[in-house]
Amino acid sequence: MLNPESATPLYLQLKSHLQTQIEEGVYGKDGRLPSERELAQQYNISRMTARQAIQALMQDGFIDTRVGKGTYVREQRIDQDLRHLTSFTEDMQRRGRTADSRVIRVEKIRADADIAAHLKVLTDTQVGMLSRLRLADGEPLAWEICHLNLRLCPDILDRYDFSSESLYRVLREVYGQRLVSAQQVITARMPSREERDLLHITEGIPVLALHRVTHNDALQPVEYVQSVYRGDRYQLQTTLNLYAPTERGSET
Ligand code: GLP
Repeated sequence: MLNPESATPLYLQLKSHLQTQIEEGVYGKDGRLPSERELAQQYNISRMTARQAIQALMQDGFIDTRVGKGTYVREQRIDQDLRHLTSFTEDMQRRGRTADSRVIRVEKIRADADIAAHLKVLTDTQVGMLSRLRLADGEPLAWEICHLNLRLCPDILDRYDFSSESLYRVLREVYGQRLVSAQQVITARMPSREERDLLHITEGIPVLALHRVTHNDALQPVEYVQSVYRGDRYQLQTTLNLYAPTERGSET
């Protein structure tokens, strides 16, 4: 099937052959590709050539490696709707996936100037800090560091275990917080080493950094969240309507 006489390098021939198989759904629901060793045997090529083909497929976004488990066809990206104020748990439930979290740190801290400004409290006020890795069906998707205005939800971090609880559910149902609006700023950047390790992404994959301040119906900031979402698994989606400037023109 591969032609050593061709001007096209063997690894590129193998890459395009595997790409066709991926597009035809040959690897099924599980999506696991043969290992380097298996490919080398099957196509009578060196492991180095098989590795180059796998790397090229990875660079083009067709496959992912899972540490210690092998190479898998990449799933479709998660469409994040930017118009609605939803929680991670709700987002995943809507997609039929099971959300859960790994709590990395949970504690009360003194607000520095940045946190204080976002939560509209005085610097040094005690606020809640909840750092969580967010997973869907066991796959890490985002790392969120949430700062909470404890005046609005005292003891929340002592009373609930947020590895299984939804923060928004507790804020709404236990503390009566009506979360009605949020300001969100999204930037793209390369992840730190720590972020790469936590999110299981290889070097070269960017992340979406989302900063969100969520307000209650009295317009008080309830949470200030700094998060990183996997750039290879998310895409942001919104609807744009015709821009109709007001008569005075300069207003937004
Ligand atoms: C989303 C938001 C966060 C919020 C979180 C709550 O991920 N970006 O600002 O803190 O949801 O999630 P949950 O209610 O699932 O704990």
